[in-house]
Amino acid sequence: MCGIVGYIGPRPAAGLLIEGLKRLEYRGYDSSGIAVVNGDGLKIFKAAGKLTQLEQLLDGRLPHGTIGIGHTRWATHGAPNTPNAHPHTDQSGRIACIHNGIIENAGAIRTALKQRGHTFKSETDTEVLAHLVGEFYQGNLEEAVAMALGDVDGAYGLAFVCSDEPNVLVAARKGSPLLVGVGEGEWFVASDASPLLQYTRSVVYLDDGEMAVLTRDGYRIRNLQKARISKPVSQIEWDLATIERGGYDHFMLKEIFEQAESVENTLRGHLLEDEGTARVTGLNMTDDELKQVQRIVITACGTSWHSALIGEYMLEEMARIPVEVEYASEFRYRNPVVDERTLVIGISQSGETADTLAAIREAKHRGARTIGLVNVVGSTIAREVDGGIYLHAGPEVGVASTKAFTSQVAALALVTLRLARLRNLSILQGRQFIQALKLIPAQIQQILGRAHEVKAIADRFVHHNNALYLGRGVNFPVALEGALKLKEISYIHAEGYPAAEMKHGPIALIDENMPVVFIAPRDAVYQKILSNIEEVKARRGQVIALVNECDGQVDRLADVCFEIPETLDLLTPLLTVVPLQLFSYYVAVRRGCNVDQPRNLAKSVTVE
Ligand code: M6R
Repeated sequence: MCGIVGYIGPRPAAGLLIEGLKRLEYRGYDSSGIAVVNGDGLKIFKAAGKLTQLEQLLDGRLPHGTIGIGHTRWATHGAPNTPNAHPHTDQSGRIACIHNGIIENAGAIRTALKQRGHTFKSETDTEVLAHLVGEFYQGNLEEAVAMALGDVDGAYGLAFVCSDEPNVLVAARKGSPLLVGVGEGEWFVASDASPLLQYTRSVVYLDDGEMAVLTRDGYRIRNLQKARISKPVSQIEWDLATIERGGYDHFMLKEIFEQAESVENTLRGHLLEDEGTARVTGLNMTDDELKQVQRIVITACGTSWHSALIGEYMLEEMARIPVEVEYASEFRYRNPVVDERTLVIGISQSGETADTLAAIREAKHRGARTIGLVNVVGSTIAREVDGGIYLHAGPEVGVASTKAFTSQVAALALVTLRLARLRNLSILQGRQFIQALKLIPAQIQQILGRAHEVKAIADRFVHHNNALYLGRGVNFPVALEGALKLKEISYIHAEGYPAAEMKHGPIALIDENMPVVFIAPRDAVYQKILSNIEEVKARRGQVIALVNECDGQVDRLADVCFEIPETLDLLTPLLTVVPLQLFSYYVAVRRGCNVDQPRNLAKSVTVE
């Protein structure tokens, strides 16, 4: 959730930290702050609101100093105001701390510290931790941090500096992502690689229980018990241009328009046309092991959970393996039935979602084989699963997930194809599936070329405050995803339902003011969904229909039709979701919403 950046080296730290926070702002954006150590001690600046508020406060007068830490916040403990913004200091004001995560026993520690005379300026768990470190401090920041962390429960990505030690930056990780950037005579810590990419591509990913100690001579990794840990240095493959807007008004629009390419990238190198199957060596499972899978559980959150539901339809239909899709936050706490014959698939764009990570750990603990469909290379989930497929969708910056979704569905198609071919799917059927998959990027491009049509539809419906999204079969999860996209960026109340469920309750909502989006490709349930459209029209609802062609049946009923190219039934979500993403985008822009950073949300949800 929160963004962390820290620096030690020859450059002026403050400007570098602010620039780094700009790249991290997608992780949280309700307040921000920096702390820099210089000859005059610790200089801290913080402000509620977006990073521009902090910039206004500084007004170009950056504190000098070549070591510092910066933070952009997504509030957990305490309102998003300036006192609660990070960095926080200890009682003496010498030690500054930034934190991503939650200290679960902060209440008890705060009470004990108060009894020992501590006073607090904020409501945050982070300030409690800073005070605890201060209590342990006897001239060695590294040791004080290690000792304090021995007393805390919860999750953290942390960075500390101290005015008494201007040549040391200490970082620690448990449950929240953190990496060390290794430059030429300069070192960084950050919650992801984006703030340090213009300086170095060499990074060391910290694991839980590890601390990094950065000095002017280099860095060390250790655990809380002082044992030194040797870790590989990884190279980041993408560059700054990939995380910039490139002429688009918003990251979300850029990412929607990247989908022809991102889906192609997900599929690249995986399709074995002659054999009618997929090469998925990254799963680290032999064909025999794949054949022995008796049951699949897919676990994820949000948009990734919607792609998981599509995976359920694909896997059950083609591979005939029973599949259950679980919200990660439910799965982890409900004593799930999984064992060594269960394949557990975790899906996550960020690879850092706390609930999904915990669900995967729970599954592993119970003996299941785990695989991850993850976008961010080197992320925690990617490193902890037994195998997986990287989505290669490229960095997704907009808080609303778009290209990650289509790449997740494409990756699920690959897993499905492999498993199905090891069971009943014929080579011919496999080849047909591959042919259809290969056409998808061009078909997405075709839809994107008609974005202006979607914009016109959005203009027509922009003033409504509710919407229903209905689909059947594999397009029911697309209805859920369409509704989620609309509500999260435009704040319009929207619900997704299986179309036939409408008459079991939601139909009561339908009148002339209710737009109903029907996802109605010409698939096996087309005639059924036509009846559902009739039911809505009979109650004067306004129908927007996604169809393969205006065939006289749908356009007779619908107020607006948008045509999508034909593909195999199971692959239609890769196409039907695209106009829904565009619709949400254009509605939100017309309503003046902050599309890339919607209120109350954050890109990566690293708290429970
Ligand atoms: O990074 P993940 O895919 O694990 O994230 C899961 C959800 O937090 C995410 O999809 C969220 O629902 C998005 N805001 C949806 O657009």
